Amino acid sequence: MSAVDPVSVIGAKRDGRELTTAQIDAVVHGFTSGTVAPEQMSSLLMAIVWRGMSRRETADWTAAMIASGITVDLSGLERGGRPLTTVDKHSTGGVGDKITLPLTPLIASYGLAVPQLSGRGLGHTGGTLDKLESIPGWSAQVSPERLRSQLSRVGAVICAASDQLAPADRALYALRDVTGTVASIPLIAASIMSKKIAEGTEALVLDVKVGSGAFMRTYDDAADLARAMVELGTDAGVRTSALLTDMSAPLGRSAGNALEVAEAVEVLAGGGPRDVVELTLALAREMLDAAGLRDVDPAEHLAGGQAMDTWRAMIAAQGGDPAASLPEAVHREVAVVSESGYLARLDALAVGLAAWELGAGRSAPGAAVSAGAGVTWHAAVGEPVVAGAPLLTLHADDPARFDAALARLEGAYEVTATAPTDVPPLDRVLGRIGP
Ligand code: URA
Repeated sequence: MSAVDPVSVIGAKRDGRELTTAQIDAVVHGFTSGTVAPEQMSSLLMAIVWRGMSRRETADWTAAMIASGITVDLSGLERGGRPLTTVDKHSTGGVGDKITLPLTPLIASYGLAVPQLSGRGLGHTGGTLDKLESIPGWSAQVSPERLRSQLSRVGAVICAASDQLAPADRALYALRDVTGTVASIPLIAASIMSKKIAEGTEALVLDVKVGSGAFMRTYDDAADLARAMVELGTDAGVRTSALLTDMSAPLGRSAGNALEVAEAVEVLAGGGPRDVVELTLALAREMLDAAGLRDVDPAEHLAGGQAMDTWRAMIAAQGGDPAASLPEAVHREVAVVSESGYLARLDALAVGLAAWELGAGRSAPGAAVSAGAGVTWHAAVGEPVVAGAPLLTLHADDPARFDAALARLEGAYEVTATAPTDVPPLDRVLGRIGP
């Protein structure tokens, strides 16, 4: 491996040539072991941003990142002597995206095993672990042995991914973040899929968000990313498909940690905002299908309480009290509707940034987040609103945060006299990529 000269690899990509498997292995391994300098890797990453990578190169880049760490062994899981199929979901991240919370126990309630190894939020999109940590007693730390036993017993685990899962991706992402090299479809696809493939799931459904609150602002870019990830998963032997879903407006009625848990619990109780319910069901159908369960209607286990029972068991298995009250922020500020009409636009990015300003998100890795902070909106895009009625409620522990949050929301919504015609579909699904 050390025979490969990093400067020649940079030159090859700069000149638009395809890198060999040996070259890719050498630079990824060399970067994590310190023989390829950060400035050399930055230069190569920028060349990749401009020149791209072929399907084979992207698969090799992904494999090299997986090889930098451990892989989780989920083989041979069983319950009552019956083998368990593993199926997971990954979202590229959006504002108010709490779908993992109801979806994981819903799928597990059909006798499947759902290993959700998640991360924490950074910036305007919330992290699943941050949301669940607002439940008193709940812990994100689950050992590999407990992961297997909880999957066998309950079927659902949402926990922190080990630092040893694709550690090269962690180091490369930190470098990409400060060198303007995040925006590359092959690099994003390899980054996400290295962690998902290392997690050992048999099937995977991707929720690739499109719009102002998402990584990918246009449908075409999101479709390219989805295609690249589906190819990587398929080439690695994971049954993979993707739904492309709208993230121009935030999902549901709240963005913030405890606020989103409360909304997820409403969905598990058979209620909740229609868009959250419909997107949960669309992703559930895709996951059940990937696991070979084609003739079931996932709405039945939301209505029948089986998904709620599995949620309670999943939370309790990790030390949480599913019956405990959720924390609430100390202070509230309400923005009212100035004229009657229809909510024609509510910008997802602005709402995400407002929630972050209120304390729901972090600006540096490891920083604390507020459990109760966030934004609630009282109408969805397309719905009628009445002058003087509350449109947005801001929640914060520190009232000094309201000004910055309100500034983020300036110009973020629009009320029109007639009903808008370009509202997102109720289930938010814009397209599908997969077998
Ligand atoms: N999320 C990741 O995990 N990696 C990227 O490169 C972008 C988003």
